[in-house]
Amino acid sequence: MPKKSDSLNEINFYDDENHFYEDFWKTRKYEHFSEVLAINKLLKNKHFETAMDFGGGYGRLSDILLKFSDQVILVDPSKKQLDIAKKKFKENQRIEYVLLDKKDYIPSQDNSLDLLVMVRVSHHIIDPRKLFKDIYRALKPGGYIIVEVASNAHFLNRMKLLTKLKTPSKDPVRVGSVANGIKDTTPFVNHNPSTIIKQLQESGFQYHNKLSVSNFRSSYLKNRFNTEKLVKLENMSQKSLSYLNFGPSIFILLKKI
Ligand SMILES: C[S@@+](CC[C@H](N)C(=O)[O-])C[C@H]1O[C@@H](n2cnc3c(N)ncnc32)[C@H](O)[C@@H]1O
Repeated sequence: MPKKSDSLNEINFYDDENHFYEDFWKTRKYEHFSEVLAINKLLKNKHFETAMDFGGGYGRLSDILLKFSDQVILVDPSKKQLDIAKKKFKENQRIEYVLLDKKDYIPSQDNSLDLLVMVRVSHHIIDPRKLFKDIYRALKPGGYIIVEVASNAHFLNRMKLLTKLKTPSKDPVRVGSVANGIKDTTPFVNHNPSTIIKQLQESGFQYHNKLSVSNFRSSYLKNRFNTEKLVKLENMSQKSLSYLNFGPSIFILLKKI
């Protein structure tokens, strides 16, 4: 039995009957397609037996993972999100659903997964080091992990900090608080991508690639250019801008050696 402090049962921001995570994406087509592009690029020419969409929510990205794998395990602590996914994918036999009830834990045997993807999940984990070690345990040697980081070191933030002669924190930065309706049981943090890469390497992973994603996420640009144009621009810039950690979201690919 997990200890109470390890339980994920209280993480129910995504279970809240008044919170509709799917609706968040209705006005974020550009960001969605940018993330799909990044996954397609990172996984190009790869095929896996078993992939896990960890913290996969209602499976927004699970069908992309199905293109690269025989089986997708969609894991999430929110029953509401998993129920939406089950309806969305109906009888698809290639998707398995697992309700996560323990923190920092991968519900799989040692050396059993070929790929684990966590997009927009590290945003909810203040210290992911224990989780990274468990991912390492669950992946097969040669298996891959993609971690998306909501970055506190993106270009605009760096410029803002520079005006105060500061640099981005290496530590996680809380965004949102109990005071503005965010429950403390579902924390929101931005991470420094360099710190996350270091933590993953300390867990035994070998760094392979990274992409800078949603580089043109700005209402000014979105009002002037249609999604298709912005996605084209995004496609051309994800790799080159990654050297600058430019965008608000950094996708990192690493391998268990
Ligand atoms: C922003 S949503 C992202 C869902 C999906 N990956 C996507 O990109 O659309 C965050 C998801 O992470 C799950 N989550 C929150 N805390 C978690 C934790 N500590 N471990 C695993 N999943 C978590 C939530 O239930 C939610 O479905």
